[in-house]
Amino acid sequence: MTAGKGTSIKTVAIIGTGVIGAGWAARCLAWGLDVVASDPGKDAERKLRAAVANAWPALARLGLANGASMDRLRFVGSVAEAVRQADFVQESAPERIELKQKLHQEITRHAKPDALIASSSSGLLPTEIQDGTTNPGRILIGHPFNPVYLLPLVELVGGKQTAPETIERARAFYASIGMHPLHVRNEIEGYLSDRLQEAVWREILHLVNDGVATTRELDEAIAFGPGLRWAFWGTNLIFHLAGGDDGMRHMLHQFGPALKLPWTKLVAPELNDTLIDRMVEGTQEQAGNRTIKELERQRDDALIAVMQALKPFGIGAGRIAAEYETRMLGQRHAQRWTPGSKVPAPLELSSGYVKPDWIDYNGHMTEGAYVMAIGDASDALFRYIGIDEAYRAAGHAYYTVESHATYVKEVGAMEPLTYRTQILGFDDKRLHIHHAMHHGKTGELLFTVDQMLLHVDSKAAKAAPVLPGPKAALAAIWAAHRNLPAPHGVSRAIGVPAK
Ligand SMILES: NC(=O)c1ccc[n+]([C@@H]2O[C@H](COP(=O)([O-])OP(=O)(O)OC[C@H]3O[C@@H](n4cnc5c(N)ncnc54)[C@H](O)[C@@H]3O)[C@@H](O)[C@H]2O)c1
Repeated sequence: MTAGKGTSIKTVAIIGTGVIGAGWAARCLAWGLDVVASDPGKDAERKLRAAVANAWPALARLGLANGASMDRLRFVGSVAEAVRQADFVQESAPERIELKQKLHQEITRHAKPDALIASSSSGLLPTEIQDGTTNPGRILIGHPFNPVYLLPLVELVGGKQTAPETIERARAFYASIGMHPLHVRNEIEGYLSDRLQEAVWREILHLVNDGVATTRELDEAIAFGPGLRWAFWGTNLIFHLAGGDDGMRHMLHQFGPALKLPWTKLVAPELNDTLIDRMVEGTQEQAGNRTIKELERQRDDALIAVMQALKPFGIGAGRIAAEYETRMLGQRHAQRWTPGSKVPAPLELSSGYVKPDWIDYNGHMTEGAYVMAIGDASDALFRYIGIDEAYRAAGHAYYTVESHATYVKEVGAMEPLTYRTQILGFDDKRLHIHHAMHHGKTGELLFTVDQMLLHVDSKAAKAAPVLPGPKAALAAIWAAHRNLPAPHGVSRAIGVPAK
């Protein structure tokens, strides 16, 4: 990561260090820039440093630039001192036009003549902010989204006096700190993104005010549906797909009449030929040479990625995805050992198929995915012997301590898989198992792994004896498996014999 790449910006001044100013400071520091900040608020320096420290772990997960450090943040006592050395000034003071005007007059008096000056304003007109400033051609709006250190969007809006070069220099700078600069070509209040947010927000307020729905219901109406699609494509390209193979034109034809119905308090424009052509041409340009079918597959892949990403947090659609997976697993891993039941030798407890995202550039299942897939067989074995969520929640589990894998044959996407599992030995703490992955139709051997597992007390983080229930199941399996021939790959060693 190189901040300021293609730009000469090394030091950024942050004027106003509330929610947004602190977000800018964190982002700039993470990209390896020097930051000088000022804010007249009580306890402002402590609050700023605390906010940056709170954002830092998230930034570290995204990747910090060489030399990035929270120590490169300096807090000073005046606007003049903050902006004097800065190559870029980002003002994030309260959203009041008189305050912003006075502040920009002060900033422009003290800043270097070629320093760029951006305001984080959410909707004020830059022409009004430029009023009475020195050298106003370098002032623009750089409107970010909270949290500024994570969300890439920044809207660039020029005023009547903003030089075109200012927009281009700001665009290069923001791109260099990992942002997506979007030039709002017409100076309008609320710019683009806040207008869209505001339309939804006002409708929400109407619906709550009219007693139609609660805040929770309205959030669910977004988070489980349209919000997941907005995350990667916004609205228009998504609606292009709502029209089937004929895209946006069909969609407008189908839903156009609804514009006359009271579906929202926002008044719709007349859907005339010019507007239809603009919508159709715009979305066709976005689609490029991708067919509707290709777009549908991309949309589906992106939706799965978003929902999978939410799964570990159990948030929104991620909760549904997690519940679905648990249910599927319950269905697939339904076999349980009971005292006296006949134990198959070897066990066949699980089956599945090669998921499309397990495929590598050769068109075959990728190396790591074989191991992931075989995890399903381990899970099925655990359930068979009585190790389930309750057993694990009570602090008991098997941990894998050693594996030995052999890759026997390649396999392509969606091919069916079955797993055979054999116990090679066990005692109170150790369990030696062997899994073989076979092609579900041809029966061909694809992959084997033998693993040593250690039973642990996961709370104390040390080895501990397996509990009586699973132990009895293991003893019964061992009795059925002990005379099976040694399976493929066991005890092989790798190496090239020395000559
Ligand atoms: N909060 C958001 O989601 C959001 C998103 C995008 C843009 N914005 C815009 O960012 C700007 C700041 O908003 P915020 O949410 O960070 O507000 P905030 O109230 O959290 O922070 C404003 C800060 O400005 C300081 N301040 C007051 N007078 C000042 C002065 N004369 N000089 C310097 N600093 C001064 C305050 O002490 C405070 O720390 C506003 O223009 C707002 O519209 C906010």
